[in-house]
Amino acid sequence: MADAPEPSTTPGEGPAIHPRNRLNELSGEAWLYFTKSVWTTAYPSELGHRLRRAHGANKPPRLMARLIEYFTKTGELVLDPFAGVGGTLLGAAMARGPRRAIGIELSPRWAEVYAEVAQQARAERGGLGPALADLGPQDPGGPRGFDPSGCELLVGDALAILPTMAALSVDFVATDPPYNIQLPMTMAGGALAEAHANRRTDYAMVTDDPADLANAPDYATFLDRMTAVLAELARVLRPARYAVLIVRDAYQDGRYVFTASDLAARAATVGLIPKGDLIWYQAGSRLRPYGYPTGFVPNIVHQHLLVFRRDGAAPADGAPAGTALRGTARGRRASGSRER
Ligand SMILES: C[S@@+](CC[C@H](N)C(=O)[O-])C[C@H]1O[C@@H](n2cnc3c(N)ncnc32)[C@H](O)[C@@H]1O
Repeated sequence: MADAPEPSTTPGEGPAIHPRNRLNELSGEAWLYFTKSVWTTAYPSELGHRLRRAHGANKPPRLMARLIEYFTKTGELVLDPFAGVGGTLLGAAMARGPRRAIGIELSPRWAEVYAEVAQQARAERGGLGPALADLGPQDPGGPRGFDPSGCELLVGDALAILPTMAALSVDFVATDPPYNIQLPMTMAGGALAEAHANRRTDYAMVTDDPADLANAPDYATFLDRMTAVLAELARVLRPARYAVLIVRDAYQDGRYVFTASDLAARAATVGLIPKGDLIWYQAGSRLRPYGYPTGFVPNIVHQHLLVFRRDGAAPADGAPAGTALRGTARGRRASGSRER
């Protein structure tokens, strides 16, 4: 049985934050609510969704904001090495107490969409920014503002840019990598599947750039390249801080591919300790008759929010913050690991 949560507010003083909570600015009640292992919230189409939906794997900024609010405090630095049209950056900008964020994206097209969305949103209501609906219990914590001034999106290959970032300079990684290698058909194929349109034919998701991880020649190479990215993420993350990888399993070549499990195993080899697997149920997914009427083929209507904690002990309070880009490594390197 869990301990009773802290009261959510102290009259006149805002949320009561436990004195030993160094991670975030949440009340005990909000902390507990976040830890449920299944997420079913249907997020609204907002913040330039009309432009962002051209990217078939764009993520709701509010989903990203919830992750960011749990794993960071106001002003801390979030990194997304596969930024797409900027779901993570927009999430950092709408967090209650905006965070800073660096994104890396291979495709200039998606970076331009992010820039346009951020600029348009900022200009709304005569420069006050967008009016973001208060979703009540679906997004506990009250109204949200929007301040993207601390967010930057870099165009290029994550495997080339990450090594230029200073070690121990990032407070949280939130990312949604290419899920798997690109195949002509991602699901079961066959006449019925064709009639009902394969996911990949609906939207643009993959570039034709050889550096795109989805263009790896085979799944083993995809996993190796992702392991190299994960090792870089472990290097730039501060000790004891967290990374969340959003991963969708796949059904390819007639079999189920446990991409989330495979990536979690790889992450563990580079010092990112698996801490949890939150299931995000995408209620609005369209069902397609992939295997009907001859055999079972799943309609995958969930994604994994894989939670990792970087190896090492947290630095003492007051340790200096590092500069992420083109800086020298600051802070102290972790010696040994301590399980929590
Ligand atoms: C699943 S999408 C991320 C979508 C993003 N979360 C959003 O809200 O738009 C993965 C992204 O990784 C990008 N990508 C693939 N390989 C890359 C690489 N080597 N370096 C940087 N970005 C890459 C793709 O272009 C794609 O936009």
